[in-house]
Amino acid sequence: MNTRKISQVLAGLSLACALGATAPVQAEAQAQADASLFHDLGGLPVIRQTVHDFMVAMLADPRIRHTFDGANLKRVEDKLVEQFCMLSGGGCDYTGDPMKEVHQGLKLTNADFNALVEDLQLAMDKNGIASRTQNRLLALLAPMQRDTVTR
Ligand code: HEM
Repeated sequence: MNTRKISQVLAGLSLACALGATAPVQAEAQAQADASLFHDLGGLPVIRQTVHDFMVAMLADPRIRHTFDGANLKRVEDKLVEQFCMLSGGGCDYTGDPMKEVHQGLKLTNADFNALVEDLQLAMDKNGIASRTQNRLLALLAPMQRDTVTR
C-alpha cells in the first residue's frame, strides 16, 4: 500500500473512532453509513465476485500463497463473504471462527498483512469499486491487523 493509501485508511479510522465515541443519534447515522457501504460496494453479488478474485489473487501471490496450504479454501471464501457483508452493513451473520483463533498458528507478519491488503485492492479494482469505497472497507479491516499478525 502506498503512503497516500495508508493515510487515507488512517483518516477513515479516525473518522470511525470519532463516530464510535458519540451519542445514540450519531450511532444511528453510523449504522446508516455502514449500510451505504454495502450498497456502494455493489451488494452481495459484487462482494461475492470480489472475494472470489481476492482468493485467486492471494493463491497466486508468492508472498502469501503458502499460508493457505491445507486450508479449506471454499470455507475461507464463504466466511470472507459473510464477514465483508456483515462489516459493510449488509445484514449478514458472520459464522466463522474468531480472527485471533484462526490466524494465531499461522505466525503472520506485517508484510503478510500488507500483501493481503494489496491483493484485496487488486480484486476491488477489478470489480470497479471506487477508491473511496475501497478505503472505507479497508478502514474496517485495519483494526484486525492486531488479531491476525502475531510476529
Ligand atoms: C484483515 C485481515 C484478515 C481478515 C479479515 C481475514 C479473514 C479470514 C476469515 C474470515 C477466515 C476464515 C475463518 C474460518 O474458517 O472460520 C480466514 C482464514 C484464513 N486466513 Fe485470514 N484474514 C485476515 C488476514 C490474513 C492474512 C494477513 C493472511 C495471510 C497472509 C491470512 C490467511 C488466512 C488463512 C491461511 C486462513 C485459513 C486458516 C485455516 O483454515 O486454518 N489471513 N481469514
